[in-house]
Amino acid sequence: MSTLFEIQDLQVAVEGKKVLTGVNLKVNRGEVHAIMGRNGTGKTTLAYTLMGHPKYEVLAGKILLDGEDITHLKPEERARRRLFLAFQYPVAIPGVSVASFLRASMKAVRGSELQPSQFRALIKEELKSLAIPESFMTRSLNEGFSGGEKKRLETLQLRLLQPKMAVLDETDSGLDIDALRIVSENLQNYRSADRGLLVITHYQRMLNYIKPDVVHVFGDGRILQTGGADLALKLEEQGYDWVAGA
Ligand SMILES: Nc1ncnc2c1ncn2[C@@H]1O[C@H](COP(=O)(O)OP(=O)(O)O)[C@@H](O)[C@H]1O
Ligand SMILES: [Mg+2]
Repeated sequence: MSTLFEIQDLQVAVEGKKVLTGVNLKVNRGEVHAIMGRNGTGKTTLAYTLMGHPKYEVLAGKILLDGEDITHLKPEERARRRLFLAFQYPVAIPGVSVASFLRASMKAVRGSELQPSQFRALIKEELKSLAIPESFMTRSLNEGFSGGEKKRLETLQLRLLQPKMAVLDETDSGLDIDALRIVSENLQNYRSADRGLLVITHYQRMLNYIKPDVVHVFGDGRILQTGGADLALKLEEQGYDWVAGA
């Protein structure tokens, strides 16, 4: 197994406050990792930092993708290297349809543009497998979308962009039981021997669909404990009190 994605001693400040205190993580090709932890421990800060959000100041440490140091690359340069973050475009953009947004993001990442007919054919299959109505494509991006619709769109984007490493923050929030199952099954389906996935989640139930190889407990801006899939079950049963430092 070879290393696909690595975080080395990452320390990050937000608005002058140190939030990440030294994150170390290594994802091999083909692996799914989950990060769980109490609210306010720095999980979303980690996701934003990996995405290259300018508000998050890297004080120390490195982020490596396929051995390349991407710590200081712009978000779009990371995307071109096939690093995907689910909430890349969390805002509503009036007037931009879902379809044009998806075509533009595919062009940005893949370098070439699909013919409209090719795009329509590709989308049709994906919409079916995610149970998204075709009328969704002509709506304005994220305008009036429910939590579940946003998450389905993120999953659709993930499948179209074919990243090699994806980081998903709380993809299970705001999903009803059916939507959770569909999104999770599609993510499970996205797994392959050469891809990596890092899922930040509150609930073990999502991990019933996306079987993690490695589970990390996050606390105080770093990883406190690491284990297998059974660690998520233990957390669900016993909470975080037993984890030292959490
Ligand atoms: N943009 C920000 N401005 C100020 N403080 C922030 C910002 N983002 C995060 N923080 C602080 O960093 C800490 C970790 O937050 P966050 O990363 O959202 O945690 P989690 O996702 O684990 O709930 C919290 O104390 C939060 O208040
Ligand atoms: Mg969060």
